[in-house]
Amino acid sequence: MDTTFYHLNLINPLINASGVKCMQSSQLDELTSCNIGSIVTKTCTPLQRQGNSEPRYYEPKNHLLTINSMGLPNEGVQYYLDYYKKNSASLQLSCKGRFLSLGGLSINENLNMLDIIYQNPENLTHLDAIEVNLSCPNIVGKSQLGYDFQNLESYLRIIFTKIETLEETLLVDMIKNLEPGKPELKEKVDTKYKVLIGCKLPPYFDMCHFQVIADILSKFPRLDYINCINSIGNGLVIDSNTEKVVIKPKNGFGGLGGKVIKPTALANVHQFYRLLGDKVKIIGCGGVSNGDDLFQMILAGATLVAVGSQMMIKGVKCIDKILRELEDIMKKKGYSTLDDFRGKLQYL
Ligand code: DHB
Repeated sequence: MDTTFYHLNLINPLINASGVKCMQSSQLDELTSCNIGSIVTKTCTPLQRQGNSEPRYYEPKNHLLTINSMGLPNEGVQYYLDYYKKNSASLQLSCKGRFLSLGGLSINENLNMLDIIYQNPENLTHLDAIEVNLSCPNIVGKSQLGYDFQNLESYLRIIFTKIETLEETLLVDMIKNLEPGKPELKEKVDTKYKVLIGCKLPPYFDMCHFQVIADILSKFPRLDYINCINSIGNGLVIDSNTEKVVIKPKNGFGGLGGKVIKPTALANVHQFYRLLGDKVKIIGCGGVSNGDDLFQMILAGATLVAVGSQMMIKGVKCIDKILRELEDIMKKKGYSTLDDFRGKLQYL
């Protein structure tokens, strides 16, 4: 199930969906010791947050969906940087990709977290990717950036300019401290400290919107990947017996995940795969609960595939099952690598 994601050689294409099993170090430990190919942290802010009041997550007995309105509870960015540093040996031994999800409540919070990361270059040696979350639906009074068609481009311009400036400064500092006159050093520094940059997108539902977003994303060559989709925002689940909503924040409105969102997730993965081509890789997320779902995500064009609701419901043991099921499908179809079928969805 070997998977390459740019320079990363991963044992398989699976990653947890951010928010699932990745807030506290004990949860991250569980991910580290299971068979998953990569790990992403809970989307974080500069400082620790408690998040919304409980109950804030619900799954009906039929497990067709999940709804959550967590409100960005997290331990603060430094906690996750420290986790990756402290566990560097075991993470490297198991070849895990190490992703950090950033979800500042303002652009300044995101810039501030980028400063925190880059001010200690050692952080970058323990990190493979930074993912900017443009799609948290659960903050009272805040709209999702990914739906702000007017301001998204200028927002990303500020973020990418910041990243490129921090990288340039780092490179200059590093080269100053290395033996002079060796041209290959730049390359060495580049590979050691360069992290992949991604964006987590909300689901889109209109063909014109896919195009608008793809056009904006194409203006940023430093963007390595997109992760689509985040939960379908602001659904409402009702319990007929109690005649009540099932979660407390926002009068019961919350992000939908699980099996029912898979067709929307596949559509987003595939349409962005068509529009962005080889330039931007895709992490597919949404409703993956078995090997067939994983197969379909890769067929639609995903390089990595996230597991969210199923991991909430079954725990990390679902990873081995999903991988085994994909292996069976591949064997039956005569595929030996994921590249044999990635993006090769056929039309009628
Ligand atoms: C939360 C939910 C999201 O879908 C997300 O992308 C980030 C945070 C949350 O409610 O904590």
